[in-house]
Amino acid sequence: MKTKIVRIEEENIDRQAIREAGEILKAGGLVAFPTETVYGLGGDALNGASSGKIYRAKGRPSDNPLIIHIAGMDYLPHIVKKIPEAAYKLAGLYWPGPLTMIFEKADCVPLETTGGLGTVAVRMPSNAIARALIEAAGGYVAAPSANLSGRPSPTLARHVIEDMDGRIDMIIDGGEADIGLESTIVDLTGNGAVLLRPGFITREMLEEAVKEVAVDQTILEGEAAGAPKAPGMKYRHYAPRGNLVIVEGAQDKVIGGINSRLKDHRQAGEKTGVIATDETAALYRADSVKSLGLRRDEMAIAKHLFRILREFDEEEVQFMYAESFEATGMGQAIMNRLLKAAGHQVVQL
Ligand code: TXA
Ligand code: MG
Repeated sequence: MKTKIVRIEEENIDRQAIREAGEILKAGGLVAFPTETVYGLGGDALNGASSGKIYRAKGRPSDNPLIIHIAGMDYLPHIVKKIPEAAYKLAGLYWPGPLTMIFEKADCVPLETTGGLGTVAVRMPSNAIARALIEAAGGYVAAPSANLSGRPSPTLARHVIEDMDGRIDMIIDGGEADIGLESTIVDLTGNGAVLLRPGFITREMLEEAVKEVAVDQTILEGEAAGAPKAPGMKYRHYAPRGNLVIVEGAQDKVIGGINSRLKDHRQAGEKTGVIATDETAALYRADSVKSLGLRRDEMAIAKHLFRILREFDEEEVQFMYAESFEATGMGQAIMNRLLKAAGHQVVQL
C-alpha cells in the first residue's frame, strides 16, 4: 500500500487535506494523526472491520482495546450506556485534553473496537488537527498510539513513518507532540475511580473532581502486583532493542555506578548509552549520552523520553542505563513508562 504523507499546521489547518483524511476514515481506511499526547493510528471506531485493520497494521494482539476519540460532549451519550456524575466533573475540568475515561459501552460500539470487552475507553483530544479530523470522519475515531506493537509511542511524524509507512493510507505530520506520553486512563465503571495508566493528568488532579482515586498497583510495581486492569499495560512496551537498566540512589553514587558499569561494557566491546539529565550528561563516559532536560522540568523529561528510546535503537546501542525520577505528580507517568521500557530492571545504589 502507498502511504500518503501530508504536512498540516495546527495554527492554519488545511481543510481540504482534513476532508480527504475524513473520507479515508469513513471508507474504512486508516490515517495516523497528531494529538497532544502522542500520534494516533485512526480508524472508524463504529466499523469493526476498521478496528481489525488497526490491529493488523500495529501487529497488536486483538484483545487489547482501542480508545475512541470524540470531538465534543454531544457525541458521548451515543457510545456509552450511562455517564456517571464523576465523568461530567472530570470532563468539565480536563476535556478536551489528555484524559481517557472508561465507561460501559453502548451496543453500537463493535466488540472489535473494545477488544471483546463490555466497556469502552473514550477521550476528547485538544489538538486542533485531531479534532478537525474526528469531525470530518463522522465523530468517532478509534486510535491506539501509531507505533508498531512493543515500540515506544511516536511523538514525531518521523516515528510514525518508520513504523507505519506502507501499512496505512495516510500519515498527517503535525509536528512534535506537546506532552509526549499517552493520556491518563481512569476507570469509572465500578464504585469510585481507578487510575489504570498515569499521565499528564495526575492522581492529585483527578482527586479535584473525584473524592478518592484508587491506583492500579501494577502501574509502578509491574506484574508482580497482579494482572493490570488496562489490558494493554500487560504487554511488553516501549522496550528498546538493547538492554536498559534504571539506576537509583544519590546522584554521585549513580554517576559513579553507571560509569563503572560502562567501563566493563566498553572493555567487552559493547556499545553503550545513558539516559541522563542536563545536570549530569557531561559526566558520563558512554558511546551515546542523551539528556531528557533539566531534572526539575518534568514536562521536558516526559516530552523527550520516547524519542530518546527510539534514537538508541537507531544507533544500535546494546547496553543502556537511565537515571531514576521522583514518582510523584507527572513523575509517576515518567517512571511508569521508564520501568516498562526497562522491563522493571532497577539497580539500587
Ligand atoms: O494518549 C493516548 O491515549 C493515545 C492517543 C493516540 O490518544 N492513545 C493510546 O492508545 O495510548 P493505546 O491503544 O496505545 O493505549 C490504550 C490503552 C491500552 O493500554 C488499553 O488496554 C487501554 O487503553 N484500554 C482501552 N480500552 C480499555 C477498556 N475498556 N478497559 C481498560 N483499559 C482499556
Ligand atoms: Mg500504545
